[in-house]
Amino acid sequence: MADADSRTGARYATSEIVHWLDQLHAAHDAGLERAFLAPGLNGMPAIQVGIGEGKLLTVLLKMIGAKKVVEFGTLAGYSAIRMAQALPKDGHLWSLEFDAKHAAIARANVEAAGLGDQVTILVGPALDALPALGQLGPFDAVFVDADKGNYDRYGTWAAMVLRPGGLLLGDNAYYFGNLLEADNKDAAAMRRFHEQAKQAFDTVCIPTPDGLLLGIKK
Ligand SMILES: C[S@@+](CC[C@H](N)C(=O)[O-])C[C@H]1O[C@@H](n2cnc3c(N)ncnc32)[C@H](O)[C@@H]1O
Repeated sequence: MADADSRTGARYATSEIVHWLDQLHAAHDAGLERAFLAPGLNGMPAIQVGIGEGKLLTVLLKMIGAKKVVEFGTLAGYSAIRMAQALPKDGHLWSLEFDAKHAAIARANVEAAGLGDQVTILVGPALDALPALGQLGPFDAVFVDADKGNYDRYGTWAAMVLRPGGLLLGDNAYYFGNLLEADNKDAAAMRRFHEQAKQAFDTVCIPTPDGLLLGIKK
């Protein structure tokens, strides 16, 4: 059921409820714990996905039997490990990361999680890597979690390289609450991301704390 408050955005999760559910449904193994803590220990912004959202990525990829996945924005490798844990032995994740320090820390974390053979981290601006990476498609899923001003371009590329039935996932789909700001070019890019996704995918925006766009390629 829902009620008038929850229909307009009220949430009933308290920090205690979120913590209890994370421990139950999404508990970390040693590799996930290392990657989750890495940003704070290495002077990086701690902007990785939440624990439950990370597990949601794992479950969604398992649901579609994903084998080939692309991620925009690696940071320390937390979401990359969450997704790689969903893949079969012959599956692969390509993760795109602008910052060489982030990429090096992520690589170490992915290795420590025992997933080194299944994850390739490509360093540099994501847009530069797309022409060559596209040749490795079609892909089963694309997760967008990098610079918000390019989400529309990342979404356009995803629509070209995903197989029918493949998943587009976009974090920060509320753009930190600023999605509808008129004079904000990154908010405009995020709105285009939503609008373009609607054309090529069957879409829904999951009400995670900052919204997660989910689309199935038509
Ligand atoms: C929100 S963090 C990614 C978090 C990660 N997905 C996780 O949940 O563990 C965004 C990352 O995108 C990277 N980034 C920013 N602009 C980028 C670009 N143009 N190309 C590739 N990566 C970029 C940042 O350096 C940062 O590490």
